[in-house]
Order: sequence, then C-alpha cells, then structure tokens
Amino acid sequence: MSWKEEVQKVADEFIYTNEDVNKGVKEFLREMDEGLSHSGSTLSQIPTYVTSVPNGTEKGLYLAVDLGGTNFRVCSIQLRGNTTFSLTQSKVAIPRELMVAKTSKELFSFLAKQIEVFLKTHHNDHFQAVVRRRRTMSISEGFREEEIFQLGFTFSFPVQQHGINRGTLIRWTKGFDIADAVGKDVCVLLQDEIDELHLPVRVAALVNDTVGTLMARSYTSPGKTGTLLGAIFGTGTNGAYVEKLKNITKLPAASGANYDDSTGEMIVNTEWGSFDNGLRVLPNTSYDEALDKESVNPGIQMFEKRVSGMFLGEILRRAMLALVKDPKVMLFKDEDSSSNDIHSTTNIAPDSPLFTQWGLDTSFLSIVAGDTSYGLKVIKQTLDKELGISAASTEDAEAVKVLAAAIGKRAARLSAVPIAGIVHKSGRLGKTSASASHAASKVKEHVQNLEVGEAAKTAAEGVQASAAPVVDLPPTGGVGNDEDDVVDIGVDGSLVEY
Ligand code: GLC
Repeated sequence: MSWKEEVQKVADEFIYTNEDVNKGVKEFLREMDEGLSHSGSTLSQIPTYVTSVPNGTEKGLYLAVDLGGTNFRVCSIQLRGNTTFSLTQSKVAIPRELMVAKTSKELFSFLAKQIEVFLKTHHNDHFQAVVRRRRTMSISEGFREEEIFQLGFTFSFPVQQHGINRGTLIRWTKGFDIADAVGKDVCVLLQDEIDELHLPVRVAALVNDTVGTLMARSYTSPGKTGTLLGAIFGTGTNGAYVEKLKNITKLPAASGANYDDSTGEMIVNTEWGSFDNGLRVLPNTSYDEALDKESVNPGIQMFEKRVSGMFLGEILRRAMLALVKDPKVMLFKDEDSSSNDIHSTTNIAPDSPLFTQWGLDTSFLSIVAGDTSYGLKVIKQTLDKELGISAASTEDAEAVKVLAAAIGKRAARLSAVPIAGIVHKSGRLGKTSASASHAASKVKEHVQNLEVGEAAKTAAEGVQASAAPVVDLPPTGGVGNDEDDVVDIGVDGSLVEY
C-alpha cells in the first residue's frame, strides 16, 4: 500500500453511507417513540410544558441569558410586535475552572455578576434610578413590579422541567461537572445569586437553547404551518420539536393542570446528544472509543461525541497522533533525523498540544477545510502556530486535510439523522418522494445558514438521502407537495465559534 493509501485507510474508517443514514433514521424514530412513553430511555424526550409558540405580535423589553457550553451571553431584547426586534448583547467565555467548580454557587454567582455588569453598561439609567430609590426604602419593601426585568434563562443542559420557571438539572454535558448542582432547581440557583446582588431581575422562564431557537424562529417567521424544529449544532448538539400532546404518553394524567392543552401540542426537548448511547447504529472507530473512555461522562452523549464542536478537534487529534506513531506513515517525519525517538524523528515540538487531551480546537477543521492555497500554506502555518509542528511537508498537510474532511463529513451526515427523523415523524412529508425531496430541499435552505458551510450542505444531502427510502414507513400525514409540506426549521450555533 502506498503512503497515501495508508492515510486514506484511516480516513475511510469515518465513511458513513446513505444506507447508514437510513438505518440511523429508523433507529432515531424508534427511540423517539420509546422516549415519549418511558422515562429513563436513551432519548430523554423531555416535555417542556410549552404548548404554543410566538406568532410575531409579542411586544416588550426583556432580558435573556444563555449558558451554553463555551460562552455566557446576556442580552436585552425589544420585541416590536411586528416580527422584528432589536437586540443588545454581551458575551463572555466561561472560565474553565467554573465548569468543574466544587460548588454550583461559584458558577451561578459569576453569572449573576455578568448580569449586573450588563445592566450597568446597557441599561444604566433604569438601573441607577431603581438602585437610588432602593437606598431610601425599608428592608421589607421590594422592587415595584414595573421596575423588574423579566429574564428568560436559556440553560443548555438536560433539565427536568416542572413549570415555566422551575426545573432540576438531570445531568451535566459538554465537559461541565459540578456534582452539587445535579437535582437542584437551576432557576432558584440563579435567582438566589441575583438577589444577593439586589438586582431588579426575576427569572421568569427557563428554556433549553433548542426550545429558545424554535421560539425565536416562530416569532420572526410565523407561517401557515409554523416552525417544526429548533436545532443546535454548537459545542453540543440537540433539537426540540413540536409534538402532538396525545403522543406524549408518559405525561402524568394529573399534569394537565400545569399547562394549556387547548393547542393539542407541546414542544419536546429530545436531548438527541444521547441518541443511541447503546451504539446500535452509530459508527465507532478506535478514536471515538478512546475519546469516550477518557471523557468526564463515558457511555453518554454518544451521538454528540461524534458530531459537535466540543469533540471533532479531539477526534482529529487522536487520528493524527495514530498516523504519527504508525511506522508505515510517520506523519510529520523529520527527514533529516535518524533517531528512533518520536520527538526527535518528527517535526513536532515535545510540548505540542497534539500530545494533550483536548489539545486541538474544532476550529482547526474549518481552517483546514478552507485552505485551497497552492502547497496548502494555510494548513502548514496553522500546524506551526497551533501545534508547534514546524516544516510539515505538503504530503503531511494533504494527509491532515483528508482526515479532517472525513471526520467533518461523517459529522455532517450524522447531523442529518435526527433532522430527517423529526421531519418524518411530523408527518409533514408526503408519501411521494417528490414531496419528500421538496421538504428536504427546504431543510437544506435552513441548514445552510450554519457557518459550517460544506458540512451543512453534506448534512442537508444526508436528509435528502434519507427522504426517499424512509417514506415507505407507515404514513403519518398528508400527501402532496404544496406549501403545507414545507418544514420550517430554526438552526443555531456554529462549529466555527467553538
Ligand atoms: C448538550 C445539552 C443540551 C443542549 C445542547 C446544545 O447536548 O445536553 O441540553 O441543548 O448541548 O447546546
């Protein structure tokens, strides 16, 4: 086998075919149903108690915070009531030590502090007026109702929701690990810290980021058929969709009192990051296996660990390292060296992040994919700058490009699985493949808004690939390919930003 073929052999381990996409979609549909009827299934299918979505006429000034996997955002939003809005926002990276802090107080007091900074920076007049008045108040007096900012808390982790601003943390994901927060109400944790700073802010609603995405899309694009799905492809990956209430059979009968059931629908947070934790259909290379084993949560979020921004760089790092150590390939070999030691036979600095877990950021895959320069100059420069690999040859750079493309393409095709599953389950596809591909091309339009470019296109092609063969599943809805079959999807997050 030639050197190139040896490299290709590793890249080929990441092939995920049309047939695989279809198998994945069928398994996803099975797990969706299982999750709607049982608790404790691999797809959590969490009922959100949100039974209707905005229609674009909502008005007012609101605060929102978003605790994602990498950043914390604070924003204020003025909804104008005509599907448009204006937004002021700030963003701060969450310090690594707070993600694994000893107590949840450390994290939540940091979040409250950011809210205070935001109010002082962007709403200082209102803030100072309220604070001045408070100085003259007795202890028992609170803020006046009209002085209080209503805050929407987007908390992008699995939460068992008990009410619109009540929800207990089920488990951490995306590298967070703060034991004492599990089982606690995250709204209470945040409100307590806000109150300690005496801020005029009430945590009024708790949503997952996917639910927020779905609602935001509904506000800006209220259509005849409404928005079906909110999807995140960022540090983690997940989706929330609109389900028929009668299908959510695990909802306790008595819970009807907690929500308005007149719409006959409810948004369900799938937590698809944990799709197929049992590895019935997911691809599993030795690099995936090692990544999972050495993660803070082995055996869970198995889909996410193959798809999202937190993990793709780490998969590539492991595959590159395997090729460095493979005597038939010896990636980044120093042609002038005759030693047997890995550090002196290669062009890799001994302290290179290539040797450290999480040492390679996923943005590296985007840089590599984007390099079309003669001699792959950008890849060589980035290898030098990010990984301390000097003097990489053009063949080395080509090998990195082939690997990165294979890992990105697998992730993109895997991304198609839950999207296609939900589109199918919604019954908005007709029985004819004409309408299936019409819907798939609509999906493509929205998915292309992602910054991942090529990867998004591949995901959309995966949806397309899944459409025709799966439409012979039991028909769940209307036939035909007029506008009623069009699926509206809000997509947020970006692999690039991670
Ligand atoms: C992880 C979280 C999930 C979130 C997703 C995207 O999968 O468990 O709640 O929606 O990341 O941020």
